[in-house]
Amino acid sequence: MKKVDTLDELIATIKKTDNIPTLPKVLSKISEETDNDNFSIKNIGELMSRDVSLSARILRIVNSPFYGFPQRIYSINHAIVLLGSNVLKSIIISTSVFTAMKEAMTGLSEHSLFCAFTAKHIANALEILKKDDIRAKKINGIDQDMMFSAGLLHDIGKIIIATTFKEDFKKIIQIATESKKKLSDIEHDVLNISHDQLGYMLIKEWNLPPSIYLPIKYHHNVSLAEDFKAETAILNLADFLTRALGIGFSGSSYLEAINQDALKILGVDVNFIKSVIEEIYSYKDELYIFD
Ligand SMILES: [Fe+2]
Ligand SMILES: [Fe+2]
Repeated sequence: MKKVDTLDELIATIKKTDNIPTLPKVLSKISEETDNDNFSIKNIGELMSRDVSLSARILRIVNSPFYGFPQRIYSINHAIVLLGSNVLKSIIISTSVFTAMKEAMTGLSEHSLFCAFTAKHIANALEILKKDDIRAKKINGIDQDMMFSAGLLHDIGKIIIATTFKEDFKKIIQIATESKKKLSDIEHDVLNISHDQLGYMLIKEWNLPPSIYLPIKYHHNVSLAEDFKAETAILNLADFLTRALGIGFSGSSYLEAINQDALKILGVDVNFIKSVIEEIYSYKDELYIFD
């Protein structure tokens, strides 16, 4: 496929292909149910039980050491109560997206899941830090489960590039292995657009909230974020740490320096990052939960 010249042309090309992941029907039904103020766990449980692999995945996640609930959870209704509707939605999205990720790029699903774990962990660590550190006090109301979803979906634009612009994708990966350049810059050189922008467009099209699609849009350009700055900074650091620890593969082994803007926005220093690394490393053993 030839290089696309305009954004309109690019969007038209993407819409023409049918290899972009679509959201499963069960998600829209569950969304309808959870948008209703007095939604019924029983109805959601019933909808989910119809999809055996989805139910099995939910139970695996809720029973994983990452969630660390003290007793084993056997019922899907109990799992729904514990996870909440936002996590539920992101797990359902991941069901369809994970297969597409695995097909698009080896290692991308592991990269995305570890980034999700890390983003949620950082949000939680900031909440704890806030109690005794004045600088972190200004960070307010970060939804940890939204951070998990943003982490899971942050590189979804790479699926679009890999499946819709196959030749360009090969070229991008080739350049990435030979040069010391950021992958998003190479994508821009080759395609005039990068995966962060494509991902933003897709997530918006799926009607997910701005607390997910805006951090995704700016995860490689933290300083350009106007809203959800802290969420964007967390996502940037989670992605950076995942690559620094060599978990999965995101298309390039080049590692830039840690983003100082992100540290500044969150009011944290390198010691905070060191403690995050110590705590998240064991999550690498939990990357099976979506299989
Ligand atoms: Fe990215
Ligand atoms: Fe990434």
